Amino acid sequence: MTEINSVTTLTRDGDIAVITLNSPPVNALSAKVREGLHEGFKSANASDAKAIVLICDGRTFIAGADITEFGGAMAGPSLQDVQDMMEGSPKPVIAAIHGTALGGGLEVALCAHYRVAVPSARVGLPEVNLGLLPGAGGTQRLPRIVGVEAALDMVTSGRHVPAKQALAMGLVDELVEEGKLFEGALAFARKAVADGKPLVKVRDNNAKLEAAKGHPEIFADFRKANARKFRGFLAPEYNIRCIEAAVNSATFEEGLKAERKLFTELMMGAQSAAQRYYFFAERQANKIPDVPDDTPLRPIKRVGILGAGTMGGGIAMNFLNVGIPVTIVEVQEAALERGLSTIRKNYERSRTAKAEETEARMALLSGSLDFDKLGDCDLIIEAVFERMDIKKDIFARLDKVAKPGAILASNTSYLDIDEIASVTSRPQDVIGLHFFSPANVMKLLEVIRGEKTAKDVIATSMKLAKQIGKIAVLAGVCPGFIGNRMLSQRQREAQKLVMEGAMPWDVDRVLYDFGFPMGPFAMSDLAGLDIGWVKENSKGETIRDVLCEMDRRGQKTGAGYYDYDENRNAVPSPVTEKIINDFIVKSGANPRKISDEEILERCVYPMINEGAKILEEGKAIRPSDIDVVWVNGYGWPVYRGGPMHYGDLVGPDKVLAKMQEFQATMGEAFKPSALLEKLVADGKKFSDIKA
Ligand code: CAA
Repeated sequence: MTEINSVTTLTRDGDIAVITLNSPPVNALSAKVREGLHEGFKSANASDAKAIVLICDGRTFIAGADITEFGGAMAGPSLQDVQDMMEGSPKPVIAAIHGTALGGGLEVALCAHYRVAVPSARVGLPEVNLGLLPGAGGTQRLPRIVGVEAALDMVTSGRHVPAKQALAMGLVDELVEEGKLFEGALAFARKAVADGKPLVKVRDNNAKLEAAKGHPEIFADFRKANARKFRGFLAPEYNIRCIEAAVNSATFEEGLKAERKLFTELMMGAQSAAQRYYFFAERQANKIPDVPDDTPLRPIKRVGILGAGTMGGGIAMNFLNVGIPVTIVEVQEAALERGLSTIRKNYERSRTAKAEETEARMALLSGSLDFDKLGDCDLIIEAVFERMDIKKDIFARLDKVAKPGAILASNTSYLDIDEIASVTSRPQDVIGLHFFSPANVMKLLEVIRGEKTAKDVIATSMKLAKQIGKIAVLAGVCPGFIGNRMLSQRQREAQKLVMEGAMPWDVDRVLYDFGFPMGPFAMSDLAGLDIGWVKENSKGETIRDVLCEMDRRGQKTGAGYYDYDENRNAVPSPVTEKIINDFIVKSGANPRKISDEEILERCVYPMINEGAKILEEGKAIRPSDIDVVWVNGYGWPVYRGGPMHYGDLVGPDKVLAKMQEFQATMGEAFKPSALLEKLVADGKKFSDIKA
């Protein structure tokens, strides 16, 4: 065995040279890995070996470039140097894939002459999710194998293609038995030598590109079909241009040059910086300074849910999907029946769940009117009305029926978890699990740590979140926690702006153009203006009251803040405009023209300021956790990183100056947070704050 460097070895198995990478956690293409590969292939190419196998130790094949190196100077051999060494090898090179071959990892594998994989492996070019494109020839080689349409899909979605599908697409040449990758790859290499198989260079294979030549409509149609999905993002368009370049360039090198130029542009831009920041933000959110990774977990074998409404049902589906049995308890038979049948309908309507899967999941679900049925649950989640008296009553009863050690969770979106916990004899077992609606779809889970919540309850909740495919963020107890607390700032300003002269559609347009999927008024129309509105108590005191009294209760009644045409398209409403203007006249205010810039600053800067207050009070662990909440729970455009990242981008000094200006003219709602003031005084940014 030759040790090439600390992460690479070169060994021999008879005639076959084997290069093994071992660079945990994911064999990313760091300078050391590139150096090891370069030197390893140089030696193996020069040796008398008849073929070369590249294989990785640990959980995965190469999962991509080392993202932590991005933005700095590249040391040692470049990725292209490595690729040239592989592709130009005078003997067959076989990449042996397990885990994931992603990004630069797949681009390396595409420079092998052959690829073998175990059935559980997945391959993909997910750079688009980092605001990038596969800049190591990926956009030029991929369409040469899978064709232009499939390549467009892969590079713009970044999806991980399962090995079996990769085999059908020609990305993988052979599947080998699970757990026998090394033996399978060696056997493949020996056979390649014995059969005198050619040294296939993907770059020379132009047939699939020729087929797309003279068909610009392929690209035009693809852009059109995905316009909504790609809105605001640069990377999908740049990826498309690269595939176009593959088709239209005279040579492979010319295409490569176009790819390199577009890659560099993305890499230098703010979008990719934000998306790369976000990649690590999401992973950081799992790390809780005083709850070590090895904290023992409480086993969760059965989940109980109180309330079979939209929330309770959606929450239940998460657990059923991963095979955890669920008991739902309701107070009324009809509500229970309705809840259970909604879950079934949701499964039947879903494109992904097959009939037998629906049955398997439904078989794990039981409903009951008997509170005592929760006695054997390891986790019980309460999802009933947002009223403290009701929640307290429920938790007092839970305290009596739940088994010792069961986790007692509330799905409240703003109530005080400590107050809820105080009615139990076991506040250490109480936690908030704030799911977002629809709970079976939305990725975010705010985990709320009460004053007395035990560490293993937190660790178990965070782990369970991952198991059910959620992205969890830990928050402390405060009204609205992280997300809704900041949202209320935006809502307040949106309402005020409308009383000062902006129309709801002006506010919505500015926020939509910023990158949110919709603005606050369109959102209200979608959710229903009558949430929390009581007809009997309504006295026409607010714009909403008047709209609801006119039965303009949102999309469901065909009108709300907006009018809706026959295709449910929102159109600015003269009725709403008149109501607003009447209110303004009544209030004696002088409406003024409000600039788009002011709308954005008024809606977003108070959120950043509130985020700073949340940090200052220790209700979020780190600024990036707040960003994870906003990207996953509220549609903050990921290419702007999140509110705190955006605050850094604008500059904390600019945010502070605006807050001070607003405070002077509009009052204490804009009072800057002490943390924001301190950051500015110290010349620091939010990103300088560590957990
Ligand atoms: N570079 C640096 N670190 C990486 C990394 C990468 N490409 N991929 C993962 N990591 C790190 C994570 O930050 C994490 O670190 P911590 O444990 O310190 O938090 C650790 O590896 C494990 O990652 P996950 O928690 O995500 O583990 P997982 O098992 O859930 O998922 C994975 C593994 C599917 C590989 C996932 O990590 C992933 O999707 N990684 C990114 C893949 C990617 O985007 N590759 C393309 C890179 S860009 C590129 O390659 C450009 C080019 O063409 C030159």
